[in-house]
Parts: sequence; C-alpha cells; structure tokens
Amino acid sequence: MKNLILAIESSCDDSSIAIINKDNFKCIFYKKISQEKEHCKYGGVVPELAARLHNAALPNILEQCKIYFDRLCAIAVTNEPGLSVSLINGITMAKILSLSLNIPLIAINHLKGHIYSLFLEQELLLDMGILLVSGGHTMVINLDKNKNLNIIARTCDDSFGESFDKVAKMMNLSYPGGVEIENLAKKAVHKNLNFSVPMLHSKDLNYSFSGLKNQVRLEILKYKNLDEGIKAEIAYAFENAACLHILDKLEKIFKKYSFKFFGIVGGASANLNLRSQVEKLCEKYNTKLYLAPLAYCSDNALMIARAAIDAYKNKDFVNIEQEILSPKSLNFSKI
Ligand code: KG4
Ligand code: ZN
Repeated sequence: MKNLILAIESSCDDSSIAIINKDNFKCIFYKKISQEKEHCKYGGVVPELAARLHNAALPNILEQCKIYFDRLCAIAVTNEPGLSVSLINGITMAKILSLSLNIPLIAINHLKGHIYSLFLEQELLLDMGILLVSGGHTMVINLDKNKNLNIIARTCDDSFGESFDKVAKMMNLSYPGGVEIENLAKKAVHKNLNFSVPMLHSKDLNYSFSGLKNQVRLEILKYKNLDEGIKAEIAYAFENAACLHILDKLEKIFKKYSFKFFGIVGGASANLNLRSQVEKLCEKYNTKLYLAPLAYCSDNALMIARAAIDAYKNKDFVNIEQEILSPKSLNFSKI
C-alpha cells in the first residue's frame, strides 16, 4: 500500500529526512544531521559551508530510506523561506525523487512546518494563537477558524533566537547561543543586573531585540576581564529581559484577541524560562497551551512531513518544472 510521504528539510544548517504514514500520522523514519559543530567556529551559519554539508549528508540519509521507496505516495520538501543555497539541495533531491518514482511533489513553507510541529500526531486545531520563535523569525500568528494565517506581530530587527546567538557571540560562547545562554543564566548568583525591557510602554505589538542587544554590548564594555561569574549575570539579565519582552507584547495581544488555543513553536521555544512564563499567561487567560515536543522544536523534516499530509489531502502539488525555490517568501495566507 502506497501511503507514506517522504519529506526533506534543508532550509538552514540541519539536513533532515522523515517518512510519515499519511493515514495515521505515525513516523516511520526520522533522521537529522546537524551542522552546528562545523559552523560553531565561525560563530554563525556560513551558507556556502551549509550547502556543501547538505550535499554530503542528504544522500547519506536517503540511502537509509530506500527500503520504503515502493510505499511512497508523495515527496515533500521545504522550499521557503531559508538560505537559498541550502534549500536548493533539498529541492533538487525532492524533484529527482518525484520524477524517478513518478509520485507527486509537495512544497512546504518552513514556518508552516514549524506550526505543524504542534500537531505531529494529531489533526490540526483551529482558532489558535501561535508564537513562533526561531533563529530566523519571531512572530505571533493567528490561525483562525477558516484556516487563515494572519501575522499579528513580528520582529522589526533581530529574532528572539538570533539575539541569543549574538549575545553569546559577544561573550565568546559557542554557536548556537540559545542553549549556551540558558545554561549560563542558571549559574547567576547575584541577579541584580537589569536590562530594560524593549518598548515596554509602547502600544505597538511588534518586537525589537536590537536595543536589548546593544544594552548587553555596553555592559560588556565595562569589564576588562569578563569572567564566568559576570557572564552568568549578563546571561541571566539578558534572558530575563528578552522573555519579558515576548511576554509583555503577548499579554497585549491576549487582551486584544481571544484564542481558544495557544502554541509555541520554533527552535527557541525550547527555552524553559519562556515556556513557563507563557504557560502562566495562558492559565491567566484560560487558554489551552500546546508546546512542540522538545525534540522537534528546532528544524526537522518530521514537521514538514506532517504538513505535507494536509497538503496531500488537498492535492496541493507542484510541477517539477516549476521554480519553487523562494528564499525570502512568507507565503503564508492559509494553512
Ligand atoms: O527553528 P530553528 O532550529 O532554526 C530556524 O529556523 O531559525 O531555531 C534555531 C534558533 C537559534 O537561534 C538558537 O540559538 C535558538 O533557536 N535556540 C534557543 C534555545 N534553543 C535554541 N534560544 C533560546 N533558548 C533556547 N533554549
Ligand atoms: Zn526553523
């Protein structure tokens, strides 16, 4: 029976392939090869290097999927947004598979993929607010009862995850900075350093992390020797202000919109401080909170495969001659 969908994700620095059963959402195969170690020495993702590493990793993973080829009914791939040189690796592989196995091709928007990380083994829920916090994006999205996706708020500059990466870099911590900062913050003792929360008194619902990043930069400049103790205090104060900024705007959004459900997705949604604060906010507003499983917060092909099930049901296929690469697109109006 041909009821499996193979999905490829290569939008940034993770090479991942998943196979899902479209009838019961069960994951049949999943693998992700992260390139973090290779990019770490440069303090961020180097697109050219990412592309070369995808080129080596994806065929390696695909080799392990061959036993399922005769049960595949479609191929899905992340086509936007992301690094073009990375996306193109997955897209080329997906097109070749679709052509050679003579099965439909499905293009999935990466951000929609993150939203589906809330529904890996279940049907989609509607009337939901979603906080998407990753390295590339920070936004609050309304998934309404008619499956429309409306962006309610977004960052004007850096994303939440990116600000962690940049602050980590300023303190010579390794990349990606999110986990580094979170772990370091736990070691803070005095907790008497305070950074001001951005745009606290503004009615604007959008985010901005560049000013906070600058506050950290100016604080670092005060020290000749940035020892572990000082770094921990800075990490704690920064994480606190960054989470409070997310929370402040979210509370304003909760007052304006009433969601039946709320979800947090994206790599930075692994931040436990952020999770617990949003949890409290949802309790206060009597909104049921959904969290992406920790293992599938960051980029992965399983969320793409799950999104592809709904696309398959809607016969939302693309032609292999079609140019689907769209690195900057937020093709986002419907789920
Ligand atoms: O979703 P993702 O894997 O990639 C993008 O689509 O961007 O997110 C990666 C981002 C990085 O910026 C990383 O530092 C951040 O998520 N991140 C965190 C944490 N874990 C990962 N940020 C804050 N706290 C964390 N625990
Ligand atoms: Zn992502």
